[in-house]
Amino acid sequence: MGDSTRREFVRGAARLLAGSAAAAAVVPLAAACEPPDPTRSWTFRASIDVSALTSDGAAITTTTSGVDDAPILIVRTGHEAFAALSTRCAHEGCPVNPPVNGVITCPCHGSQYALDGKVLRGPTIYPLTRYLTYYDRKASRLSVGIAE
Ligand code: FES
Repeated sequence: MGDSTRREFVRGAARLLAGSAAAAAVVPLAAACEPPDPTRSWTFRASIDVSALTSDGAAITTTTSGVDDAPILIVRTGHEAFAALSTRCAHEGCPVNPPVNGVITCPCHGSQYALDGKVLRGPTIYPLTRYLTYYDRKASRLSVGIAE
């Protein structure tokens, strides 16, 4: 890990912890974090207010872009569970639509994805790119990061 990457990671980690009530929150962080492996390094990308996502399947298309320069879609997948997904279709790159009735659809050739980005129907054979997340229950914010 280079110096600039390390600094970025440290800044990201500091932002993640800033919303926590105390250092003791680090332990529950592992339980609330997606994926549940707290040992993975990631680069912080954004902190998104998810208070409006009150039902499963509710979504927000953010102005933050991921590694593919496509906006990141935040989807509530369950109680206190969220997915941060690329809006770039894994087939040929069209922007996918926000979910309707639990399905994310690409308008170009009809690929369909589940709320967690997994493929439901082709032509794509690949899932949507999924980013790492950490949900801060107290602040109702989702931190999104990119695995290193
Ligand atoms: S680009 Fe999305 S289905 Fe082809």
